[in-house]
Amino acid sequence: MRAMKWTAVAATGLLAAASSGAFAQTAPIPDDQVKARVEALLAQMTLEEKVGQLTQVAGGLFPEAKPEEALRKGGAGSILWLNDTKKFNELQKVAVEEPRLKIPVLYGLDVIHGYRTIFPVPLAMAASWDPSVHERAAAVAAKEARAAGIHWTFAPMVDIARDARWGRIVEGAGEDPYLGAAMAAAQVRGFQGPYLGAPDHVLACAKHFGAYGAADGGRDYDPVYVPEGRLRNVYFPPFQAAVNAGVGSFMSAYMDLNDVPAGGNRWLLTDVLRGEWGFKGFVVSDAMGVGNLEILHFARDGRDAAWKALSAGLDMEMASGRFPQHLAALVKDGQLAAAQLDEAVRRVLAVKVRLGLFEKPYTDEARVESVLTDPAHRKEARLAAQRSMVLLRNEGKALPLPKTLTSLAVIGPLADSKADTEGSWMVFGHVPAAVTVLEGLKAKLPGAKIDYAPGPEIRRDVPSFFETLIPGPKKPPQTPAEAEAAFQKAVETARGADLVIAVMGERADMSGEAASRALLDLPGRQEELLKAVVALGKPVVLVLLNGRPLSINWASQNVPAILEAWEPGTEGGHAVADVLFGDVNPGGKLPVTFPRSGAHSPLSSARNLTHSPEGAPMYNVRYWDGAPTPLYPFGYGLSYTTFAFSNLKVAALQVQVGGKVAVSVDVTNTGAVAGDEVVQLYVHQKAGRDSRPMRELKGFRRVGLKPGEKQTVTFALGPDELRYWSTSQRRWVQDAEAFDVWVGADSTATLHADLTVVP
Ligand code: NOJ
Repeated sequence: MRAMKWTAVAATGLLAAASSGAFAQTAPIPDDQVKARVEALLAQMTLEEKVGQLTQVAGGLFPEAKPEEALRKGGAGSILWLNDTKKFNELQKVAVEEPRLKIPVLYGLDVIHGYRTIFPVPLAMAASWDPSVHERAAAVAAKEARAAGIHWTFAPMVDIARDARWGRIVEGAGEDPYLGAAMAAAQVRGFQGPYLGAPDHVLACAKHFGAYGAADGGRDYDPVYVPEGRLRNVYFPPFQAAVNAGVGSFMSAYMDLNDVPAGGNRWLLTDVLRGEWGFKGFVVSDAMGVGNLEILHFARDGRDAAWKALSAGLDMEMASGRFPQHLAALVKDGQLAAAQLDEAVRRVLAVKVRLGLFEKPYTDEARVESVLTDPAHRKEARLAAQRSMVLLRNEGKALPLPKTLTSLAVIGPLADSKADTEGSWMVFGHVPAAVTVLEGLKAKLPGAKIDYAPGPEIRRDVPSFFETLIPGPKKPPQTPAEAEAAFQKAVETARGADLVIAVMGERADMSGEAASRALLDLPGRQEELLKAVVALGKPVVLVLLNGRPLSINWASQNVPAILEAWEPGTEGGHAVADVLFGDVNPGGKLPVTFPRSGAHSPLSSARNLTHSPEGAPMYNVRYWDGAPTPLYPFGYGLSYTTFAFSNLKVAALQVQVGGKVAVSVDVTNTGAVAGDEVVQLYVHQKAGRDSRPMRELKGFRRVGLKPGEKQTVTFALGPDELRYWSTSQRRWVQDAEAFDVWVGADSTATLHADLTVVP
């Protein structure tokens, strides 16, 4: 009855009045109301209208995109790849004023690490080991995006990645399921706010389900073969954490997973996601993902693809047009149960109702600019960048630099590049507004002489696919003679200064989608330039801008100070200067192992043991042409101060299966300046129904300490931390066995305690 009344109100056009802004959804819409409203709508919908809601159409990007047509024909559940507030309102008008049922359209876009104010890339945010900072970054991104008219972000990307060659490692939280789960939940909270539909927030989307990061050889889109145990213990936890945090949508991955493509994988999208985890939102395919089922030779044609995807549990199709072409016929022919189609429609409509789109379909164009330029957002971005930086080397306390410096040279192709400072995923009409490292240094030392020379350019051997989407003329590559002149100019610039800051790494388009690499060295002539500059005998600081681990073997031995700044976003240059000159003490830690070469990938700290473990005589012959150990281990990062760990206590030597035990440790700042340490807890199960990794992160906390200050940090170890999905038992188990417990500053921590789990 209540629902009938609501539908009638919507139909009379009162909805448009409500959309003027008078309606503010200050509390979640109760479940029974959502249900009643959805059922009332569903009861009136034709088959074509239902299929429309399961269809996401391109709003731009491709010239052939005609969203108006789709809206008028059968409706569209969602429009993507459009970033234009005025156009949002125009199209919304078509959706809510022309068709019979007036169902608003949901605007989705990749708002990955910021909308106007760009935060560090997600891999960098994970390096903060501070989920609260990631949550606030996502909240700022949501506020800006929502103000501009976007309802739905295709983030967070929560794919675990242990292969540094894989380009999309930049978009996630790195290699570890525990850290990854914490970052996934934080982003969902930040994007969506306290409930789905909270003002100034957007619908989040956990992607790409699942195990996309395990692509064979790190080659983007390649098939994935991962046993169920590893899926459940490593690749799934961040996705489940997103579900537990209330994420409203999921995106299926592109690739073939153990011979069943993720977009048509019923076990994945229905049995695990809904059956086991209780996910209540909807699943969208990746772009063209349903059509791709044909290309993967999983579906025989478009009709088969549509049927396989929908019956696997995929609710909305992104852009490949198979659903509008075939779903209605599949139902009419009896191949697809009408009830199954209805279920998918319900999920999409429920999200639209919860988001308050029916009450407020339009965006207030007058408000956009003031939200996007809120100075508080840039402050958050600077803080996030400061907290994400990782000090990799600091021989002889080369850093921090004195502010009395009067002459420095800044060299390297990334030192003054706004686009590369902001980082990957900036394709949708984004104008970089970043402060570059050069600009940040000039602002920090206004009286100093700062000379800049980029050196030879760097560029991909094969241009990025996304480059073709960015309008405007493309710069031709430097000729070898131009590159040589640029090289010499950079060396001369360095020669003329007291100190050299080299800003090197990868361009933004060198990581991200379709941006995998075979090698992990500094691209182009950067290392050669670094060597030439170090040979001058000047103090040299290397600032890395990159979206993946780099095998900087030579630099790690020969450049005294190395700061990993990642792709630090809009305020990146200021944050780098803050750290280099000691206004901020770096406290970030690597969320991913740095291998010594691309060929050493995949590599992570959570490997299982072998019969010749690290330290054994046979260990170092894993490869006869180099050490198999990481260049920098997971969790690693230095500080301008020092910390000591002591007094590791496990509250009880024994704990029962299912019980919890406290683990505490004292951490003391033993140096002369304030700083942050990330206290990390690792466990290893010494025997069991399965063999378990040699180290697994099971707790972490970033703490700030003044000189001499001591803090006791306490963690809990219980069934959530000690259970695992057993391959031998094909279920979750907790074994009554002995465990090693380590606490320290990275994954090589040595402070050890024993714990025994008893039946
Ligand atoms: C393809 C990418 O894999 C995915 O991450 C993204 O969200 C969609 N395209 C939409 O742009």
